[in-house]
Amino acid sequence: MANRVTAAVTGTGRYLPPEKVDNFQLYEMGTLRDSFNVEQARASLKEIDGADALSDPEVFDYWARQVTGIEVRRKLTPESGLTTEDMCASASLTALEAAGCEPTDMDLMLVASLTGSDEVPNVACTVAKKIGAPQLGGYTINAACAGFVYAIAAGWSAIVSGLANRVLIAAGDTLTRYIDYHDVRTAVLFGDGAGAVVLERTEGDRGVLGPPAMSAEYARDPLFMVGQGWEHEDEPFPLLHMHGGPRILRSAIAKMTEIGQRALDRAGLTWSDVDVLIPHQANLRITRGLEKQLQLPKGRVIHNIQSYGNMSASTVAITFDEVVRGLHGKLPEPATILLSAVGGGYTMGGAVLRI
Ligand SMILES: CC(C)(COP(=O)(O)OP(=O)(O)OC[C@H]1O[C@@H](n2cnc3c(N)ncnc32)[C@H](O)[C@@H]1OP(=O)(O)O)[C@@H](O)C(=O)NCCC(=O)NCCS
Repeated sequence: MANRVTAAVTGTGRYLPPEKVDNFQLYEMGTLRDSFNVEQARASLKEIDGADALSDPEVFDYWARQVTGIEVRRKLTPESGLTTEDMCASASLTALEAAGCEPTDMDLMLVASLTGSDEVPNVACTVAKKIGAPQLGGYTINAACAGFVYAIAAGWSAIVSGLANRVLIAAGDTLTRYIDYHDVRTAVLFGDGAGAVVLERTEGDRGVLGPPAMSAEYARDPLFMVGQGWEHEDEPFPLLHMHGGPRILRSAIAKMTEIGQRALDRAGLTWSDVDVLIPHQANLRITRGLEKQLQLPKGRVIHNIQSYGNMSASTVAITFDEVVRGLHGKLPEPATILLSAVGGGYTMGGAVLRI
């Protein structure tokens, strides 16, 4: 389609901290046992033969995999001295290299994150400085787990409006710094990482198809993190609170279906046009439920929470990089990829990209 200005992805990258924490190591930390009822969990392992003979750490591992799908997650250790900003910078440099661009070629830096190490300078400015482009203007977007899709929408609109020709987007979170490791139902879920993309102005037939879709629904209870300085006396720093339950699982599936549908409508496409669906990975039961509800052929919906846990804004960005690099199978040429995410807030974002 000639003369249609849009934003094309010309490079992608990701950074995953080397430190892995599997379910046994998480249980070893000890504090989880305050809220983990071994006998209750053992009773829930209905599919497992010989559950009675399992050790306590084995019960935890089976329970974690059955309820969330997660086997291992990455953790940015305090000993590494690294921050969310460092992870975003590393992913950004990989994306720039893939795009064949220099940091100074960029017109705008966007970072989706809620866990920057500094509030000011903002995370985007710090990342720009770290990659060698301190003059690059930018801002940080907090839309929780939908943050990367919101940043794609912001980058797309900057390019379509003429504000920028090249936008560097990173999404990174270090939620393990905010977890209450006494609360098993939250601590089991999260990991750290960052992903990045370079968006460039194009008039070709690749890139973001149609305006991305964004939506929200105010709900504080299912997930909240108190801001710095607003903690209660008995909560010295802003711990993350995550609630679960079947209602939240069902609503996450419904919300990702709805926002995905809206993005497809805006692109003039249907579900059968989608080669790959990258949903936010909050729980394997959610992404499997989505796959079942949409009746998409096996392999079209990506599931990688098993290896990483929920990495908030970075989840979709990291998965996008993996998909582009062929780690989830060979892509058709061209390939139509749908990003669909729901995050705390709730925030919802959907975007269709042809690469
Ligand atoms: C942590 C989480 C995985 C728990 O899932 P859930 O569906 O609420 O789990 P349930 O309460 O049904 O518990 C599952 C089983 O574990 C057992 N269990 C729950 N809490 C337990 C605990 N503290 N100790 C031991 N066993 C426990 C339950 O008894 C239940 O067993 P059953 O199947 O025999 O009834 C859930 O909070 C979650 O997935 N959160 C993600 C939310 C989300 O995706 N939000 C979207 C926005 S990002």
